[in-house]
Amino acid sequence: MSLIFKRRSVRRFSDEKVSDEKIESLLKAGMQAPSSCNAQPWEFIVVSDEKDKEAISKMHKFAKPASKASHLIITVGNLNEAKVIGMIEQDLGACNENILLQATHEGLGAVWLGFHPIEERTLRLKEYLEIPDYCIPFSVICVGYPVDEGEVKLRYDESKVHFDRY
Ligand SMILES: Cc1cc2nc3c(=O)[nH]c(=O)nc-3n(C[C@H](O)[C@H](O)[C@H](O)COP(=O)(O)O)c2cc1C
Repeated sequence: MSLIFKRRSVRRFSDEKVSDEKIESLLKAGMQAPSSCNAQPWEFIVVSDEKDKEAISKMHKFAKPASKASHLIITVGNLNEAKVIGMIEQDLGACNENILLQATHEGLGAVWLGFHPIEERTLRLKEYLEIPDYCIPFSVICVGYPVDEGEVKLRYDESKVHFDRY
């Protein structure tokens, strides 16, 4: 079965730290994503300091998994690098999914915490991590070793598929 069908969101992590090599493999996967005009408008902030993770976990009510993760990868869209206005979110979305899939491949757990486009969330992240105005704080990806044995439910639904016309 491909990685796609093994990936799930992991929100509870053990205390084991993820190695720098594994974090680098996630970043490589992120940067391998497709992007409009191959602009690759992404940048990354890797956070492992306990105080910073705790602060980020309090930035919105669904961000709690950040406090116990080994590392956070903040994905950032650089507007100066984007070539087609409005495509940057799609580029970053593809990048995020690649990171999640690579985490699965590495035996890690991960969850994507949504920030962009909710302004009260992005402003907090921007200020705390000193992200410049030409960058969009897109999301926070929590990474660590899973403690739960969650299962993946298959979601194929043929009622959502149309052939030839809607
Ligand atoms: C754009 C986006 C924002 C999300 N934001 C959060 C979040 O803030 N907190 C969280 O715990 N999970 C978040 N998730 C994870 C979803 O809740 C999760 O992907 C969904 O419930 C499906 O479960 P699965 O990932 O295990 O397949 C987000 C996912 C996406 C794609």
